Amino acid sequence: MLVCSCNYITDHDIRAVITELLDQDCWQLIVPSKVYHAMSKRGRCCGCFPAVVDLIIQTTEDYHARRHSTDSEIVDFMSRLKKFHEDQRRADIERRLKSHRAA
Ligand code: FES
Repeated sequence: MLVCSCNYITDHDIRAVITELLDQDCWQLIVPSKVYHAMSKRGRCCGCFPAVVDLIIQTTEDYHARRHSTDSEIVDFMSRLKKFHEDQRRADIERRLKSHRAA
């Protein structure tokens, strides 16, 4: 499925990069810009980023389920990951509202 129409990136491409990043460090914080940087791409309109965040969360959960990480490790990490992405989404909405008001 095409996720990013600006860069023609599919969900398969994104999952593969996330898995490579997790292989390097399975507890690192992965954000859309890190995924795109690893693919030598960058967000243009960034409209795909919420879908990329969902893929990051799902792929990370699946990765740790396969890796047999302990439940407490996973719960702690996933809650930090989800909180980070929620904060990013909230900041993005506030930024858009501010730029809309200024226009
Ligand atoms: S849809 Fe991905 S950057 Fe525009």
